[in-house]
Amino acid sequence: MKMALDKTLIVGNWKMNLNVHEASLYLHQLSHLVTAHRDVEVVLAPTLLALQSLSLQVNHRQFKLAAQNFYWRDSGAFTGEVSATQLKGVVQYALVGHSERRHIFHESDKDTRSKVQAAIRNDIVPILCVGETATERADNETADVIHDQLLGGLANITSEEFTNIVIAYEPVWAIGTGQNAGPTDVTAAVAAIRSQIKHLYGAAAAEAVRVLYGGSVTADSAADYLTLLGIDGLLVGGASLDAHGFSEIIKKAHHKSMLVGAERGGKA
Ligand code: PGA
Repeated sequence: MKMALDKTLIVGNWKMNLNVHEASLYLHQLSHLVTAHRDVEVVLAPTLLALQSLSLQVNHRQFKLAAQNFYWRDSGAFTGEVSATQLKGVVQYALVGHSERRHIFHESDKDTRSKVQAAIRNDIVPILCVGETATERADNETADVIHDQLLGGLANITSEEFTNIVIAYEPVWAIGTGQNAGPTDVTAAVAAIRSQIKHLYGAAAAEAVRVLYGGSVTADSAADYLTLLGIDGLLVGGASLDAHGFSEIIKKAHHKSMLVGAERGGKA
C-alpha cells in the first residue's frame, strides 16, 4: 500500500471565491498556521486563475493543489476551456463530478467519466464526487445514486488506474446548507461506496481507496467526521475560506491520525 493512503486527506474547495491576490495572502497565512505533518495531506483548490501563481509560491511538501474543474479533451478548438494536459505539473489533484458541476452545469456521468480518464492520462489524481439530492434521499435512493455515479464515472478505468482515484461522498443537501449529514447516513453511504468498489475492483481496492466526506464540514464538526468508520479525509467548502478555520480542521486531522497511530501501536 502506498504511504499516501495512510494519510488523512484534507481538501479545501474555495469554489468561485478569493481573487489571485487574496489566494496568495491566504496561502502565506496558512503556511504559517500549520506545519507540514507527515500524516496529513492538505490540498487547496483555488480559482483556476490563481493556480499558476500558487504553484510557484507553495511549498509542495506542505500543500498540494487541485483544479476545481477542467475540460476532458487534451487540446483543440474548445473556446474558454482548460484541459488536464494544461494543468499537468501545476496541480496534483482535480475535483470531478462535484454536485455543482452536475446540477448547475448539467454535467453527465459521461462527462464525469471522460474527466476521470483525462485526469489519469495527465497524471492528476481525480477526486470523484458522488452524492444524492434531498429528494433522492427522501425516496431512499441514496445507495442507487451512489451506485450509478460510481459506475458512470469509473467505466473503463482499470484496476491499476483506480489506485490513483479518490472518492468523495458529498450529499447534495448538505453542501453549503449548514445541514450536517449524521454519522449513520455517512457510514451507510461510505459502506455502499466501498461495497461497489469491491464489486468493481476487489476487496483490496475497496479497503485501500481513500474516501472523503464533504458537506458543511466546520472546524467544530471535522473531528466527528474524521473518526467515522471508512472516512479517510474531508472535502471542505465554506469553512476552508478562512485560513484560521481551515488550519483548525488540519490540526484536528493530525490529532486524529496521531490517536489512530497510537492505537495501532498499542495493539501491535
Ligand atoms: P461546503 O462545500 O463545505 O461549503 O458545504 C463542500 C463542497 O462543496 O465540496
